Amino acid sequence: MALTLLFLLMLSWTLHSSSHAVTVRPPRHPSTISVDGTTPPGVGVPLDAFVSFSIEFSSFPDFAGNSSNPNTFSNNLLNNLGNLTGSKPIVRVGGNTQDYAIFNSSLLDLATVGIFDPEISPDYPTTLTFGPKYFESYHTFPDVKFVHGYNLGRNSSAARNALIESVSYACKALRDGRLLYWELGNEPDLYSTSAQGAVRPPNWNERWYVRQWLHWTGEIREAMEGPCPNLATPEKYKYYAPSFANTDATLNPVVTWREGINRDNDIAIISSHNYINGADEPGVTLQGTLMNHSSNVASIALQLNESRLLSGLPYKLNPDLPFILGETNSLYNQGRPGLSNTFGAALWGVDFNLWCATNNIQRVHMHQGTNYRYQAWQPIDTNKVAKGTKAPYYGSIAVASFLGDIVTATPSITNLPLPDEQESAYAAYVDGKLDRIIVINMMEYNATAGNRYINHYPRPIEQYRFQLPEGCHGEAGVQRLMANGSDAITGVTFDGYSYNWELDNGMPVLLHNITRGETVTVSEGGKMSIDVPRSSAVIVELKHGNRPQGLS
Ligand SMILES: *[C@@H]1O[C@H](CO)[C@@H](O)[C@H](O)[C@H]1NC(C)=O
Ligand SMILES: *[C@@H]1O[C@H](CO)[C@@H](O)[C@H](O)[C@H]1NC(C)=O
Ligand SMILES: *[C@@H]1O[C@H](CO)[C@@H](O)[C@H](O)[C@H]1NC(C)=O
Ligand SMILES: *[C@@H]1O[C@H](CO)[C@@H](O)[C@H](O)[C@H]1NC(C)=O
Ligand SMILES: *[C@@H]1O[C@H](CO)[C@@H](O)[C@H](O)[C@H]1NC(C)=O
Ligand SMILES: *[C@@H]1O[C@H](CO)[C@@H](O)[C@H](O)[C@H]1NC(C)=O
Ligand SMILES: *[C@@H]1O[C@H](CO)[C@@H](O)[C@H](O)[C@H]1NC(C)=O
Ligand SMILES: *[C@@H]1O[C@H](CO)[C@@H](O)[C@H](O)[C@H]1NC(C)=O
Ligand SMILES: *[C@@H]1O[C@H](CO)[C@@H](O)[C@H](O)[C@H]1NC(C)=O
Repeated sequence: MALTLLFLLMLSWTLHSSSHAVTVRPPRHPSTISVDGTTPPGVGVPLDAFVSFSIEFSSFPDFAGNSSNPNTFSNNLLNNLGNLTGSKPIVRVGGNTQDYAIFNSSLLDLATVGIFDPEISPDYPTTLTFGPKYFESYHTFPDVKFVHGYNLGRNSSAARNALIESVSYACKALRDGRLLYWELGNEPDLYSTSAQGAVRPPNWNERWYVRQWLHWTGEIREAMEGPCPNLATPEKYKYYAPSFANTDATLNPVVTWREGINRDNDIAIISSHNYINGADEPGVTLQGTLMNHSSNVASIALQLNESRLLSGLPYKLNPDLPFILGETNSLYNQGRPGLSNTFGAALWGVDFNLWCATNNIQRVHMHQGTNYRYQAWQPIDTNKVAKGTKAPYYGSIAVASFLGDIVTATPSITNLPLPDEQESAYAAYVDGKLDRIIVINMMEYNATAGNRYINHYPRPIEQYRFQLPEGCHGEAGVQRLMANGSDAITGVTFDGYSYNWELDNGMPVLLHNITRGETVTVSEGGKMSIDVPRSSAVIVELKHGNRPQGLS
């Protein structure tokens, strides 16, 4: 029975691929995808440095290095993104270990001393001391602005004194243009329920949180006045907050606003966290959980409610404050191997980020730490993971390329609805006109995985037909985000370039075995058809002389 089925399956693949090496499918959706020529209503507008990172507090010295050994590989990877979007990514230094980190000014020889408790997490230290040397790491990425995460979790008087003592070191390291904003506390909504150990009693609530947040932001500001008076002014002293995990309803961000968290007017950006699902949750798969537009839509729905309530209608609590994701990635608990570290996760990241951009989540900090499965890059060699550029980094490169130079030509982003949850498309408008389109095909295609029958069929190609506005015609430039399959963890390229560490320390290297420089013809009537191999993405640039003319 099983053999017969297998035979039938193989036969059907053979038929599909009888005459060509690859099979171009007819479009699944017979109708063409219509694209407006001018900016439609309800678009999202990204902030500069939309493509940003969050680096685990305990891993920051690994990622950034120190004054005598700056991590030039990390800096090159940040430069690549900065070159595409007009400003380098913002680095938020925080995460779970931000609330474990205790400053000790007598720790002079090392940046950090961490003690791991594998029962709690094999991935990061749950007891963490850091000394003055830690702050050297803020000096190794030229032109990067940082968000430094202060500890709110540890509540002993020794920990509270250490927090205040750390302030002068932090502000001196970050003055001279390196500071974006501060943060106090990581996911304080989980303090009474955290799987890594509760640091507040069960009756922890919004009122209690807000009182402590106001108290300690006040103390930090006072401690800054002496060493860094310029950063303690009302204009400069600002926070990312409240940085809630939102995984359960322990604390409600809207209630924290009603309780007066922004009483001192020192919140610059409303920051929320999101993970699509958990690394160890049953039923999580690459196709069903990550390579699934509906899953992104469902996951972000909570944030959209929050942003609507906090920075929009109906309450208009903060109509002028941007709403962002200050920490996010695929699967919490640092990701799952075979899912979070694959090319499929890179494609997930493109759809996830652009769905955020479409919905006015104006900046996205992709989280990472040393050895994490979902990391964009591993900054150093360890006995667990080799130093290198990882597949998810290429997702960030594709997002940055699609958004373009946000500083000088801010794009507006909109989703182009497609019928299947395993595909998505977006359009970018610049100066009110259609500028580029991206198609992300998330239909799983395995390059290397176990089943040899499943793997030995040619990669299907899906065809997408567009109706572009009248007047839009000529040759359009094509850039592809490509790898051998969704399960590939190496060999990823964007537009023929590799950013791999082993080639040129993370700087772009053009590979000669990858097709690039492709164009697609847009007909006089604005019709365009583009072939997209399964498990890949393509950007069509309409700006090479064929943007719609005469449209305003
Ligand atoms: C990218 O940015 C860095 C830092 O600004 C600069 O040194 C480098 O030349 C740029 N590279 C390209 C290709 O523009
Ligand atoms: C700080 O570090 C010093 C030197 O390692 C150590 O002697 C001291 O006990 C530490 N202080 C605290 C409060 O842990
Ligand atoms: C600076 O980084 C190098 C390389 O990782 C390391 O050997 C050295 O101990 C670091 N210095 C400090 C003060 O942490
Ligand atoms: C500090 O945290 C402990 C739980 O670890 C809790 O019992 C205590 O009430 C907390 N104190 C304050 C002031 O929040
Ligand atoms: C894709 O995600 C949606 C929303 O979470 C879910 O309902 C659907 O079952 C997922 N698709 C697959 C194939 O798992
Ligand atoms: C978002 O808000 C709507 C309307 O209040 C509600 O129906 C929906 O369940 C909310 N979604 C989430 C994910 O909280
Ligand atoms: C890809 O490989 C995974 C893991 O072996 C398997 O679960 C999945 O069904 C495969 N998908 C396809 C489309 O071959
Ligand atoms: C991708 O496939 C090509 C052609 O089969 C092969 O030569 C190459 O080694 C593969 N790359 C990786 C990283 O597996
Ligand atoms: C292209 O060349 C690179 C570098 O030589 C190699 O690692 C990669 O596997 C090749 N890719 C394909 C698809 O053949």
